[in-house]
Amino acid sequence: MRDDMAKIMLTEEQLHDKVCELGAQISRDYEGKNLLLVSVLKGSVLFMADLMRAISIPASVDFMSVSSYGSGTKTSGVVKIIKDLDIPLEGYDLLIVEDILDSGKTLEYIIEMLEARNPRSIKICTLLDKPDRRQVDISPDYSGFVIPDEFVVGYGLDYAEKYRNLPYIGVLKPEVYTD
Ligand code: IMP
Ligand code: MG
Repeated sequence: MRDDMAKIMLTEEQLHDKVCELGAQISRDYEGKNLLLVSVLKGSVLFMADLMRAISIPASVDFMSVSSYGSGTKTSGVVKIIKDLDIPLEGYDLLIVEDILDSGKTLEYIIEMLEARNPRSIKICTLLDKPDRRQVDISPDYSGFVIPDEFVVGYGLDYAEKYRNLPYIGVLKPEVYTD
């Protein structure tokens, strides 16, 4: 473990097992449908890469990038589209792949925007769920782990654009935070 980490919350093995489980479940549920995995960059990139390999049915993928955070650890409530999807959504069964569902504001905004493009269906798959912090009425259709209200990094999740490349999910020591 790096010396700026206070603890490891989820190990590589726990993450791998859970992603395989989710992939199998999604493969069963979306059999015969027109699955489009929509990854919300950048946090979900590792989860997306592993999840899509754990899905055994045909699937399309697309990426979008929004920002709802500055470099700090609290939501700004403002969502900005940095990169939109390339694929027109009509006829697709969308599964939004997210790293973490926190206040829910980001996903609420994304879902409203994507619904207007008439996909066949929209569901949410989040690796982590922090229900204690929810500010809007939204819940995931697929969720890897429900976690307590602690700021986590690794496996795609960042603090000030760092730590995304850690293969596990952990909590930083308090002295690392500058805001
Ligand atoms: P929401 O709009 O509050 O649900 O925020 C969702 C986004 O905030 C996520 O996609 C993450 O990028 C970021 N986020 C929320 N909680 C954490 C955390 O504990 N660690 C790192 N990023 C987080
Ligand atoms: Mg994110």
